[in-house]
Amino acid sequence: MTRDNGSPPLYAMVQSGLEPIAAEEIADDLGGEVKKTGRGLVVFRPAEMERVLDLRTTEDVFLLAWGTDALTYRAEDLKSIRRWTAHDVEWSRLLAIHHALRPKPKGKPSYHLVAQMHGQHGYRRVDALDALAGGLAGHFPASWRQVGEGAAVEVWRTIDGRTAVCGLRLSDRTMRHRTWKQEHLPASLRPTVAAAMVRLAEPRRDMRLVDPMCGAGTILGEAITYARRHRLGTLQVWGGDREAAAVRAAETNLRHLGPARLERWDATHLPLEDASADRIVSNPPFGKQLSRPDEVGPLYRRMIPEYDRLLKPGGRAVLLVSEGALLRETARTVGWKLLREIDVRVLGQPAVITVWRKPG
Ligand SMILES: C[S@@+](CC[C@H](N)C(=O)[O-])C[C@H]1O[C@@H](n2cnc3c(N)ncnc32)[C@H](O)[C@@H]1O
Repeated sequence: MTRDNGSPPLYAMVQSGLEPIAAEEIADDLGGEVKKTGRGLVVFRPAEMERVLDLRTTEDVFLLAWGTDALTYRAEDLKSIRRWTAHDVEWSRLLAIHHALRPKPKGKPSYHLVAQMHGQHGYRRVDALDALAGGLAGHFPASWRQVGEGAAVEVWRTIDGRTAVCGLRLSDRTMRHRTWKQEHLPASLRPTVAAAMVRLAEPRRDMRLVDPMCGAGTILGEAITYARRHRLGTLQVWGGDREAAAVRAAETNLRHLGPARLERWDATHLPLEDASADRIVSNPPFGKQLSRPDEVGPLYRRMIPEYDRLLKPGGRAVLLVSEGALLRETARTVGWKLLREIDVRVLGQPAVITVWRKPG
């Protein structure tokens, strides 16, 4: 069991692969202490509660009720879930912390139970949900109604193999979807992945960050947000796309967020001067979005020399691609140094975030 009686431990759910980036954000931006990471999970204790909902690389954040790495896959887990939920949690304390961060909505108080389960267990998800509900009996005021969606309080219990965590959800859908992203395109990135890419780019004051294939502007939006949070007032954010509809979508999304220069252009012949970007952060189309998968190699071969022309010596490129080996082969031809690779899944497909430095 993972349980502590000091300041409240939290856990974040993250996109698989982004655990180390989320852990870095928690440590660096929140002054939090990371207790452990697991698949899609970071358990931590923040230095202060106020800013936990500002995290950008996490999908959701919860107050930890209980957690374990010792599930057995057998039906006896159900008894354990019920017992931990009933006896090992000060629900009234967790509810008080929850209400301080998320004021109670008007109307009759309500709660919602969510049970997620990954892996082959000897019991059904619904049995694990019943065990959770049984353990909670009597802990919430009798007047509270259990509802489907839109509850004031959500109790989540996630099982992944031997690991399970249970907690009160602090975030809502705006953590993962953002409030500024109104326009979506079919190949649009998840904002949490875009935020991770911007972090990996390590933008600094007075720099220029360019996304030459910006789609709906997700990376640019996260760059603007990062600059505001990290007081990089003078970070210039530029982007473009060859599709007019994409440029329009990016304009709509970024209109209320902050300044960005947007243009319709061809990323393989950019109307920008040599060595005029400090950071390139982008995700070119995956094979599936091109008319033929074998167009990926030729696209990388046209794109990388152009990005190399654009980057200042010592500059960084963070590229999310479907074909890591092809990209490595092409980047070698311009002499870029590979700093980091992170395997992720994007729209259900394996992909890799690659971080490069142009020698300088
Ligand atoms: C995977 S999408 C980018 C998604 C974007 N990051 C977002 O979150 O919306 C790839 C984009 O590259 C654009 N694109 C493809 N080839 C291009 C080129 N030669 N020049 C500029 N844009 C290009 C496509 O129009 C598409 O919008």
